[in-house]
Amino acid sequence: MEVKLREIQKTATEEILNVKDKKELNDVRVKFMGKQGLLTSILRGMKDLAEEERKTVGALANVVRGEIENNINLKMKMFEAEELERTLNSEKIDISENAVGIEKGALHPVSRVINKLVDICVAMGYEILQGPEVETDYYNFEALNIPKNHPARDMQDSFYISDNILMRTHTSPMQARTMEVRKPPFKIIVPGRVYRNDNDSTHSPVFHQMEGLVVDENISMADLKIQLNIMMQRLFGENIKTRFRPAFFPFTEPSIEVDVSCPNCGGTGCRICKGTGYLEMLGAGIVNPKVLEMSGIDSKKYSGFAFGTGIERPAMVKNSITDMKSLFKNDIRFLKQMK
Ligand code: PHE
Repeated sequence: MEVKLREIQKTATEEILNVKDKKELNDVRVKFMGKQGLLTSILRGMKDLAEEERKTVGALANVVRGEIENNINLKMKMFEAEELERTLNSEKIDISENAVGIEKGALHPVSRVINKLVDICVAMGYEILQGPEVETDYYNFEALNIPKNHPARDMQDSFYISDNILMRTHTSPMQARTMEVRKPPFKIIVPGRVYRNDNDSTHSPVFHQMEGLVVDENISMADLKIQLNIMMQRLFGENIKTRFRPAFFPFTEPSIEVDVSCPNCGGTGCRICKGTGYLEMLGAGIVNPKVLEMSGIDSKKYSGFAFGTGIERPAMVKNSITDMKSLFKNDIRFLKQMK
């Protein structure tokens, strides 16, 4: 019986070594280990052996069975690995194909000016607020002391939604909205989109402004001038000069307009400043006491200043652009040239 077992061990090992696929391997398994298998029938015949012999033969039979099983498993693993390798090779995807370069995005010139102005003002202690773009006649005009017959209310200049509702024509409505709900002192800026029925090379129906409002005790024109000087110098560079001219706005009294020496030519005159050496940048002034009172602020105790700056103008100057529309066409070739 021992001899038979050794023989089975030898032939099984050889046959397992020589099988060519899973099916052949399975046939070998059935041949030796199946119900009618060679090894199985030997194991079955063990019960007829004498006690002593059964022990030694049993031990050997176990070794042989273990070895055959082990070899079959190893061979099976080898076939499976080969199969996996074949599928991996046949289903290979070349992910390096058609690789296109990554296009790097950048902020729009208008966003860059807004971010810069906001940074400058936050460093100076201003708080950022935002207001509705669809506004009531009351906040856009009435609360700012703009009377019913004022030309700014003309259908030609404003986009009306209904008799009393319009697209805000400036960021100034947030002056009144803020004064109504806050107790002085406060120091706020309001960047945002505004709308006017204008459309030519220096006007767009949608553009951007940033409002500023400071209300406290003893606020004067001197405070306004120093704040605007610092802001303009931080925006355009230390070397620019500012020029304050008298102007008129119904909601400020006195009112001024602020010019900045042309950062492009340094004030000698060029195509950007149309030869004048200066660029008009802001409207500003001391908040009209009437406006303070209308919004519930005691004008005997408090005073304030307000300013409103366009965003497109500085963006155009900084990038030497003369056509405002080019900022809104979203032509990537144009935007890529922006600094
Ligand atoms: N709202 C004014 C405009 O759009 C600018 C301005 C703001 C003027 C604040 C004075 C004070 O022209």
